[in-house]
Amino acid sequence: MTPLAKTGGLADVAAALSLYFDAQGHDIRALMPLHSAIDTSGLDITPVHFLQDRHLWLGNHHYRYSIDTATLPGSALKIYLLRCPELYDRPGVYTGGPDEHLRFIALSRAAIEMCQAMAFAPDIFHCHDWHTALVPLYLRTLYAWDRLFARTRSVLTIHNIAFQGVFGTDILYDMGLQDHRGSLSQEDLAQDRINFMKSGVLFADLLTTVSPTYAREILSPEYGMGLQELLRQRHGSLIGILNGVDFTEWNPRSDPLIPHTYNARSTAGKKQNKQALLQELGLADSADLPLIGMVSRLTWQKGLDLVQQVVPRMLEQRRFALVVLGSGETRYEQFFHWLQQSFPDRVCFWRGFNNRLAHWIEAGSDLFLMPSLFEPCGLNQMYSLRYGTPPIVRRTGGLADSVQLFDPATGQGTGIVFDHYDATGLRWAIDFGLQLYQDKRSWRKLMQNGMAMDYSWKRQGQVYVDVFRQLTGR
Ligand code: ADP
Ligand code: GLC
Repeated sequence: MTPLAKTGGLADVAAALSLYFDAQGHDIRALMPLHSAIDTSGLDITPVHFLQDRHLWLGNHHYRYSIDTATLPGSALKIYLLRCPELYDRPGVYTGGPDEHLRFIALSRAAIEMCQAMAFAPDIFHCHDWHTALVPLYLRTLYAWDRLFARTRSVLTIHNIAFQGVFGTDILYDMGLQDHRGSLSQEDLAQDRINFMKSGVLFADLLTTVSPTYAREILSPEYGMGLQELLRQRHGSLIGILNGVDFTEWNPRSDPLIPHTYNARSTAGKKQNKQALLQELGLADSADLPLIGMVSRLTWQKGLDLVQQVVPRMLEQRRFALVVLGSGETRYEQFFHWLQQSFPDRVCFWRGFNNRLAHWIEAGSDLFLMPSLFEPCGLNQMYSLRYGTPPIVRRTGGLADSVQLFDPATGQGTGIVFDHYDATGLRWAIDFGLQLYQDKRSWRKLMQNGMAMDYSWKRQGQVYVDVFRQLTGR
């Protein structure tokens, strides 16, 4: 949950959605691990006295954990933190290490046992991604005896089906499900596999994902990553709800992380942000040179193969500058290093995670590039719209649902959208973006259209509430 721990959009969504539910008066109790990467210096961590020093056996592994509360910085929301240094005292949030399954089984079981200890019967257990996807199954097996949960419904939100949490069957005992083999996919067991996400897809009362288009896409082999058949069987219980944007954090009118604030009526600050950014990054200080920004995990999902194929040549042929913030797969990091060395005046690659720079790139760039191969929702394109930085996106997932292709003839549309995941598509899109940038009238309209879009949680959060009400019949 941002700002405590973040590697991508899940942190933004988990925090913003919790804040929304709380603001609407719902009794929301969010639990996350107390990762050692969390800066606890300014946190009011308070032990919950009856949730201290508890025992948890996962197979032969014995852990002691405690649950504390803290206020989510920048808000009044109390959240719960699962303190278990043995599992969460690691350099990063995700480790990919040999006990990764234990780290998230512990989180899932602590969530359930915390409710038991509090005698709290939630209407909804809202689980996010494979890490917590065993909760629905646990509610029907290990904890099925507990009448506390008789009216509780489980919801699994799929933020990215490319990550499923797949392990060998040797973890069955750690899961505590050795007597419930029948509940797991027999086909997987035969192939020595246990898939956390799949068990969530099978047992959650409701499945949601983070955009309507992605909800349709994952029913196909191209996007379903092997779960398409199952999802098709459950498709009456699968719904796509587009993510929202937390405008208290992402708003050029009041953003404390950018040097100059601005709004749709007065965009002078945006130009100043660009100039300051170019200076800061050591790029050619030329106000009329279009600046394209990227902020991304550097992974195959994000369309970086296309960037590799298209952008070096375009930099030779066209006048534009590029700033890239991100880290990830070595091949992409090396590529952007090389690109920077090849075009030192016009390309800057900032390797790493930097929230302030992410805001500044949104505010200081002219165009924002997001040519994803697949994108369950994507948040940066929605931030870009709000910051008057028209996004260049591929028509997939949440990108398709949040960006409309601009038509200079009608003045309608909010960005540049290309259909086919190939070099021709991306080259066309960047060219079209650069061309629109030169046409001042169209450009102004395009910026204004984007800045007027309202992808706030006010709207999207209410959709969750409505869906939850339907599910619980309350
Ligand atoms: P994903 O969750 O797939 O990474 P999203 O677009 O949903 O994609 O969310 C990415 C979030 O992470 C955005 O808030 C973006 O600003 C942030 N982000 C990604 N990479 C970085 C980085 N290197 N530094 C700072 N913020 C980043
Ligand atoms: C995942 C997806 C991204 C989405 C985010 C939050 O990380 O890759 O598209 O916006 O989750 O739902």
